[in-house]
Amino acid sequence: QEVLAAEMERTFIAIKPDGVQRGLISEIVSRFERKGFKLVGIKVVVPSKDFAQKHYHVLMERPFFNGLALVLLFAMVWEGEGVIRYGRKLIGATDPQKSEPGTIRGDLAVVVGRNIIHGSDGPETAKDEINLWFKPQELVSYTNNAEKWIY
Ligand code: TYD
Repeated sequence: QEVLAAEMERTFIAIKPDGVQRGLISEIVSRFERKGFKLVGIKVVVPSKDFAQKHYHVLMERPFFNGLALVLLFAMVWEGEGVIRYGRKLIGATDPQKSEPGTIRGDLAVVVGRNIIHGSDGPETAKDEINLWFKPQELVSYTNNAEKWIY
């Protein structure tokens, strides 16, 4: 059982349709990977409109709700100490005009309706969103041990 690691904090990160269409998947994955977080679940999804709207149910009353077209999603679960809060840091402020350079939205996006990436905003939403988009058997646990795979 040596490949099984103790379960750590996890968050749901998704590259939205604009990010996928613009070919930003590897750029975004690489930022989380280089930081040191661990990818434990991944898939490309084309959800129904009903299903996608479940994800943003808390925003149902907002005027921009119908523009939230999660029609194509690169869905991921990332694991690591502090990954929920720090993941939001890597992503940057909701409005790319206000996100700092060096963040994903700051470097790669211009307007709020096309801000390319989603990240859970707290422990409860992380749990809910992971359960919404992934079945338990689609998530893995493993220990990182790069040396073993080089030599
Ligand atoms: P929200 O959950 O507030 O932001 P975040 O994605 O940073 O957690 O909003 C969800 C998405 O809704 C946001 O990523 C882009 C869109 N949105 C707009 O189009 N206009 C807005 O004024 C806001 C606040 C959000």
